[in-house]
Amino acid sequence: MPITTHDVVIIGSGAAGLTAAIDLAQDRKVVVLAKGALDGGSTNWAQGGIAAVLDAGDSFDAHVEDTMIAGAGLNNRGTVEFVVSEAPAAIERLAALGVPFNAGEDFGERWHLTREGGHSHRRIVHVDDATGHAVQAALLKAARANPNITLVEDLIAIDLITSRHGEKYSGDGHVWGVYALNKKTGHVDALLGKATILATGGAGRTYLFSTAPRGATGDGIAMAWRAGCRVSNMEMNQFHPTCLYNLEVKNFLITEAVRGEGGHLKLPPGVPGGGERFMPRFDPRAELAPRDIVARAIDHEIKRLGLDYVHLDISHKPPEFVKHHFPTIHARLLDLDIDITKEPIPVVPAQHYTCGGVVIDLDGRTDLPGLYAAGEVTESGLHGANRLASNSLLECFVFGEAAAKHIRAHWDELPAPPPIRPWDESRVTNSDEEVIVQHNWKEIRRFMWDYVGIVRTTKRLERAQHRVALLAQEVDDYYGNFRVTPDLIELRNLLEVARLVVRSALHRKESRGLHYTLDYPDMLPQAVDTVLAP
Ligand code: FAD
Ligand code: SIN
Repeated sequence: MPITTHDVVIIGSGAAGLTAAIDLAQDRKVVVLAKGALDGGSTNWAQGGIAAVLDAGDSFDAHVEDTMIAGAGLNNRGTVEFVVSEAPAAIERLAALGVPFNAGEDFGERWHLTREGGHSHRRIVHVDDATGHAVQAALLKAARANPNITLVEDLIAIDLITSRHGEKYSGDGHVWGVYALNKKTGHVDALLGKATILATGGAGRTYLFSTAPRGATGDGIAMAWRAGCRVSNMEMNQFHPTCLYNLEVKNFLITEAVRGEGGHLKLPPGVPGGGERFMPRFDPRAELAPRDIVARAIDHEIKRLGLDYVHLDISHKPPEFVKHHFPTIHARLLDLDIDITKEPIPVVPAQHYTCGGVVIDLDGRTDLPGLYAAGEVTESGLHGANRLASNSLLECFVFGEAAAKHIRAHWDELPAPPPIRPWDESRVTNSDEEVIVQHNWKEIRRFMWDYVGIVRTTKRLERAQHRVALLAQEVDDYYGNFRVTPDLIELRNLLEVARLVVRSALHRKESRGLHYTLDYPDMLPQAVDTVLAP
């Protein structure tokens, strides 16, 4: 088994992982791994932008309050204040790396600030409607140019190496790196480091419909949980209100900025109220209410009227305005014969963001010594019961940097990795029943969508719990007997995450933010995190 030793092992090459790598590389040698292509995570797909207080009329207090209101009070105020106050510096660092944020359109405005749901002020910097692509490209360019950073594609982490894997058993839970399946050689490599950072992104693909890319299978959450970390608020899955409804293209997001720049949600023609806006009936903030409210309203109208979708319409704005602000969406939808300057877009809600995750502190430290985490894999206390739009990339930059700074500041206190036991290669049998993996994968995503979606009940959650238990038995047997494959690694993780989501959802006996259950429709007076410990 190939064993390599590095200063720091970073699992994930999105916004969080690369931010940490670039800071650490000032004085440490780091390896960054991606399970597929280096730009294969959600970062590359982010559209709307990054939230930060950059306008003289805006304030940190307002950004903090908007974040807390969207999060239904479940946020940790200290974390929110920390992230909001670090935001302008994070944007400056990105600009210095060459991210070409759109220039201001008004006098005295350095960058154009767009608006999204739940924000009381224009405060989203962006690069057209493809901000994530520009950010990912700038971070990768800086990382590639840095001799202290080694980037490795197609290496899929299986499990963290903890003190349990040392040649001499020690039970302190220290993390020394990761076992990872090398997709090119078919062998399991061990990557060792004094510190390890989990930056593996979210778990959107636990659900049948998601805006997240194929690899969002919650690997980091599952690995951290198996190694002994607490996870928190796993029931809080964010559904984005406006994913394109199309029979072939299933996960194309229509950015919230379309509503921020004046787009309206309407009922499609042919039903009572067809062609009319419906959001004003649900919330005084109408289309710009926080995401949970807009997604639930759409879900309600779709079920009430038996619709396949609702319409998002920005065609009342001048065509040049629409093309200027949303060039990527305009071009992509023209390919599908929808001209957004002339006609509405059919949209449905889809899973979009994993608010819960691995518990970290303000330095990005998890419960286990040597293990840090940053980005969507975490529950830092920023998002609470519902993430405010464009606060997610921000969290990646702030906590990627915070974790790196803590590691650099405490480098001499971190012990070097001990000799470890090699990965057990005795399970060499190739499965002849790959179909089971595919089938189980589909089944999880289907029942999570049906039973653990936007509107929940205890009965539906119990059904999901029952199915998780049956599948877990099957997958455990399978995992124990056959050679690991990328699909099997992901299936095992999806199942672990599904189990955590269902367990957390059953635990919460109220409706708050993204967790809405018909059996407990009211919010309890006190906001309490759902913290699960292994
Ligand atoms: P990711 O960017 O998802 O990267 C995860 C990395 O981990 C990848 O490199 C992947 O290969 C690697 N990885 C995962 N598992 C393993 C494994 N087992 N082994 C090795 N490597 C592994 N947020 C905003 O703030 N503003 C927006 O405008 C916005 N728009 C969005 C639009 C879309 C369509 C989506 C899906 C999300 C959007 N978000 C937005 C959310 C935001 O993009 C993500 O939360 C954020 O990019 C996550 O970054 P990350 O670094 O945590 O993980
Ligand atoms: C969007 O552009 O609507 C996504 C923004 C986000 O997820 O924060």
